Amino acid sequence: MRETYLVTGGAGFIGSNFVLYMLEKYEDVRIINVDKLTYAGNIKNLDSVADDERHIFMQADICDADVICKIFQDYDIDYVVNFAAESHVDRSIRTPEVFAQTNVMGTVNLLNAAKASWGSSKRAFENRKFLQVSTDEVYGSLPLDDPECFFQESTPLDPRSPYSASKAAADLFVKSYGDTYGLPINITRCSNNYGPYQFPEKLIPLIINNAVHHRALPVYGDGLNVRDWLYVEDHCRAIDMVLRKGKIGEIYNIGGHNERNNLTIVRTIVRELETVLQDSEINDSLISYVEDRKGHDRRYGIDPKKIKTDLGWYPETSFEDGIVRTIAWYLSHEDWLESVTSGAYREYYSKMYEHH
Ligand code: NAD
Ligand code: DAU
Repeated sequence: MRETYLVTGGAGFIGSNFVLYMLEKYEDVRIINVDKLTYAGNIKNLDSVADDERHIFMQADICDADVICKIFQDYDIDYVVNFAAESHVDRSIRTPEVFAQTNVMGTVNLLNAAKASWGSSKRAFENRKFLQVSTDEVYGSLPLDDPECFFQESTPLDPRSPYSASKAAADLFVKSYGDTYGLPINITRCSNNYGPYQFPEKLIPLIINNAVHHRALPVYGDGLNVRDWLYVEDHCRAIDMVLRKGKIGEIYNIGGHNERNNLTIVRTIVRELETVLQDSEINDSLISYVEDRKGHDRRYGIDPKKIKTDLGWYPETSFEDGIVRTIAWYLSHEDWLESVTSGAYREYYSKMYEHH
């Protein structure tokens, strides 16, 4: 029987990759895609499924109770996958209240709608699930001098930025709806994603875009902060597996033991672009050390043992392949890059970087 998914934030980076992945993988699915289309949402990401009747796009805010309840009334939703969020740490440092509103209140609004609609139906919570897409940042920061120390699902929450605080708060609301009302929930906490359709405010696409235009490559602080990188399709496959096989009420960390410091990432991109474009002006002299991010988390590192052992998930794309594929994608999607970096992006960029 056809399954119906309510995917929120499905015009953003990971959400749009997930929608495309699911429509490609499963014939018999219907996806209701709710996205506010903030600066980070882009309907163009979904061009290839514009005529697919299995995909229904609605521009709406997850904080809008009337709209969300109506969606639950109109469609018999089997799964909610909540990607919608304000996702950029630097923006959260400037405007934390926007993050509290969407990430916390938006999630609570979705939980209320799911509880009310599912709870009053004959099938109730049977074969349904609310999956909250969360982040490793809720665990805080690891030291650089203990590389064998990783985030486990049992690691205490210690969010350190307004962004991660809002995600941790949302996670706790999701857990509480499971514990209090019996809502069938899962929470996934993934490490840093990269791949096609990522907005160029995030490190990897920002560096690609700047390098192509021979612009300075901003590296925060000493460049030695470590992130654990995962190709976006591997994240999408993990979410699909948790939806299908994840034990109700459980949290799953997602990551592929692929830690790199920021300087290594920047140098890898520079080398690849220099080679592919045969452009000697793209070199390490473009690297520019800029003021550090406030409260900059030093290192993230996921222990993915639980999702590997319990669900059989493992990352299929190595970083070496993934980064080459990602760079090739950006080089062949100049129009996309141009469209998302005009207008408001320029204003953001100059506020963030040009006073340094
Ligand atoms: P993104 O910023 O690219 O996309 C977010 C999407 O949510 C956009 O399409 C935006 O329009 C939409 N949105 C924002 N506010 C909304 C609202 N009030 N109502 C409806 N839609 C709204 O983010 P992303 O990088 O794709 O991240 C998606 C999710 O995954 C987030 O919840 C994020 O916390 C989580 N996550 C991201 C990463 C990563 O590395 N990018 C890693 C782990 C977890
Ligand atoms: O770990 C998962 C998280 O990864 C997600 O929850 C977030 O939504 C996502 O934005 C990402 O957060 P980060 O802060 O790790 O990603 P970002 O791309 O902003 O930065 C990666 C690292 O690069 C970080 O140490 C800061 C640094 N950086 C970033 C930018 C944009 C720079 O040195 N220069 C830059 O210009």
